[in-house]
Amino acid sequence: MTIAITGANGSVGTILLSRLANRTDVQAVACVRSQRAAATLPQASNISTRVVDYGDREGLATAFTGAGCLVHLAGILMEGPTTTYQSAHVEATQTIVDACRAAGVRHVVLVSVLGADPDASNQYLSSKGKAERIVSASGLSATIIRTPLLLGPGTAGAGALVGQASRPAVPLLGGGRHVVRPLDVDDLSGAILNSCGASRPGVATHELVGPEAVAYRDLVARAAALMGRQVAIRSIPVWAAKLGATIAGLKKRGGMTPTVIDIITSGEDVHRNGDAELGVTLTPLSTTIEKCLPSRAKG
Ligand SMILES: NC(=O)c1ccc[n+]([C@@H]2O[C@H](COP(=O)([O-])OP(=O)(O)OC[C@H]3O[C@@H](n4cnc5c(N)ncnc54)[C@H](OP(=O)(O)O)[C@@H]3O)[C@@H](O)[C@H]2O)c1
Repeated sequence: MTIAITGANGSVGTILLSRLANRTDVQAVACVRSQRAAATLPQASNISTRVVDYGDREGLATAFTGAGCLVHLAGILMEGPTTTYQSAHVEATQTIVDACRAAGVRHVVLVSVLGADPDASNQYLSSKGKAERIVSASGLSATIIRTPLLLGPGTAGAGALVGQASRPAVPLLGGGRHVVRPLDVDDLSGAILNSCGASRPGVATHELVGPEAVAYRDLVARAAALMGRQVAIRSIPVWAAKLGATIAGLKKRGGMTPTVIDIITSGEDVHRNGDAELGVTLTPLSTTIEKCLPSRAKG
């Protein structure tokens, strides 16, 4: 089986490729946007690299030719001066789906986010929902996996968590009272690979969250305890953070906007966890946190 991956240099892509490295039954085509990104990818005999723009339909179709499954990971949480949710999620997904059809790719795995909805008032969730709709309407078979906060070496979430847990006192948005269901990226990687291997006709959408619901402030305290530390949690009112972000947004586009603040302070409960349907056994949260700590990340 050959699997093509967009956003292969991101945190999920890197862990997915490490898991695939040197497997004799899978070839991976790792798609990235620059030579600099290509240089960071895990090296293995069964991993080849393509540098391609996600707006270049022909270049993508060439990269995907021979692949049975496309894993679409490219995406952003924060807009920037030259990057929008519309371009990164909606337009890129349309181009990638068109390229899949041109290349004869049979199955798409889209990693999306809890709450994705084309009609959402939150622009990030709306763009992710539109990306899902493009995949669903493509005529290709697809697995859509909606995910919560992802934890694992190299994820933005792990970086923030370890940074916060390393301080004697840390201010958290809303006092960190929102409840999260962090998912281990190794578990997500397993779900992605199972979806590629057992692709069925039609489109299946799953919500996949970690095994434990925990207030974010308690997650920080647990990470600190595993580091042999204590951390005092302070609170930044969400309204004050949004006001500050709105004022900052008058000078600079993107970054920490009220849209992003709403995402990172929203609850992550789901009606039905997709772990069984996706064939994964969830890693205990404490094990996942340990994997993110500096000594473990280096090892
Ligand atoms: N990490 C989480 O907690 C989390 C939670 C829910 C959903 N997700 C979704 O899961 C997927 C994988 O996440 P991740 O943590 O691996 O992301 P990541 O580490 O931030 O990597 C993002 C990838 O997207 C590419 N990218 C950046 N800007 C882009 C743009 N404007 N257009 C197209 N591609 C762009 C990056 O390429 P360059 O390196 O060239 O910039 C990189 O390959 C993403 O779609 C993300 O939205 C993540």
